[in-house]
Amino acid sequence: MKKEEIIERYSKVFPKASRVTYAPIVAIKAQNARVWDVEGREYIDFLSDAAVQNVGHNNERVVKAIKEQTDNLLHFTFIYGFTIEPLLLAEKLGEISPVDNPKVVFGLSGSDANDGAIKFVRAYTKRRTILSYLKSYYGATYGASSITGLDFHVRALVGELSDVHYIPYPDCYRCPFGKEKNACKMECIEYIKAKFEGEVYADGVAALFAEPIQGDAGMIVPPDDYFKRVKKILDEHGILLVVDEVQSGLGRTGKWFAVEHFGIRPDIITIAKPLGGGLPISAVIGRADIMDSLPPLGHTFTLSGNPVTSRAAMAVIEEIEEKNLLKRAEKLGNYAMKKLEKMKKEHELIGDVRGKGLMIGVDLVKDKETKERAYNEAKKVVWRAYELGLIIAFLQGNVLRIQPPLTIEGELLEEGLNRLEQAITDVEEGKVGNDVLKFVQGW
Ligand SMILES: Cc1ncc(COP(=O)(O)O)c(C=O)c1O
Repeated sequence: MKKEEIIERYSKVFPKASRVTYAPIVAIKAQNARVWDVEGREYIDFLSDAAVQNVGHNNERVVKAIKEQTDNLLHFTFIYGFTIEPLLLAEKLGEISPVDNPKVVFGLSGSDANDGAIKFVRAYTKRRTILSYLKSYYGATYGASSITGLDFHVRALVGELSDVHYIPYPDCYRCPFGKEKNACKMECIEYIKAKFEGEVYADGVAALFAEPIQGDAGMIVPPDDYFKRVKKILDEHGILLVVDEVQSGLGRTGKWFAVEHFGIRPDIITIAKPLGGGLPISAVIGRADIMDSLPPLGHTFTLSGNPVTSRAAMAVIEEIEEKNLLKRAEKLGNYAMKKLEKMKKEHELIGDVRGKGLMIGVDLVKDKETKERAYNEAKKVVWRAYELGLIIAFLQGNVLRIQPPLTIEGELLEEGLNRLEQAITDVEEGKVGNDVLKFVQGW
């Protein structure tokens, strides 16, 4: 089949609700940080399938584990019976998670993990209100989309859960309070206190849901002591903290969980994306007393706790441990950040570079002073990168998303960054026409 034919047939059978495209790549094969398309072109993958391939595409250990497991047992329902693989995985997740006395439930996607977390915190606290962040993303199921702080014009059409309130995330580049980095009084913290005094009855709040680094908002990294201060306020009111590590977890930022950078222990962690090495599995890891607050069937799915996805996840964790990928993510991340910082000095288009480990955002602006978002330019950079053989995307319309596999070879990372710089230069020099804008959708 030809690429054009495949893409044409896609548009006939898949509704637009299920997709948002950046570049017309029809992938047929992938290995570590390389992807090959149906036309035989090779790409460097700076996206890791939206932060899924932390241990690289088609990781050998993961593929072997899957093959071994599929030979023996594809599924035996976790709900009614017992298999060994989800047990070992849950014990291991409990071991590596910064959650006290943890218990674990499995699901299939980050969205359902967050839905589960909403149920657990409401059941445990017997409170209804959920506090969330503006511009947060928690997923596409009813619960997760109801606490999401980004507006896709969906909720106006389909409705949402009630009792959800939002607070601004501590974005030090575009401070919601108009302050400059390191020259503020942490107005973002004061805002929470004021919210509890004036608008939301704090003792009715079940939990705050937080991404430790806000991914889809454009890789926003909070100040080091932000979450410590927030936790103190939450504790005063008996409010739980749910940390969504769907995007930032499992080594992406140089620690098992990004929340570990901020010195706090959450009550619940949700994970998914990279957990199955490309297979669908999610987990809610929470304090046992909270996780025991729902009755049987309170949060489970027929295919959750699947032995194949559990084996794949175990292989992902072993790979991170044995290849020391936490250190590697930190080291490669520091290298990439340094190079991108240098590029920032040399390119008018780059307003800010931020991130931790290999979770990096490059904020493209029309003007470094006003920080006006460079929407069309971001589309052109992504398109040009695609033409140069680099898979990259943007978030919030203008923030380039750099999340290569933690296993990417040093030379390939370097080559990818060079291709990115070339794409930026070409856009700055007007070599990419407006005609490409219609090809890049993005969000
Ligand atoms: C932080 C975060 N939470 C939750 C989700 C939803 O995960 P999924 O698409 O697996 O349902 C995503 C997906 O992008 C995410 O980035």
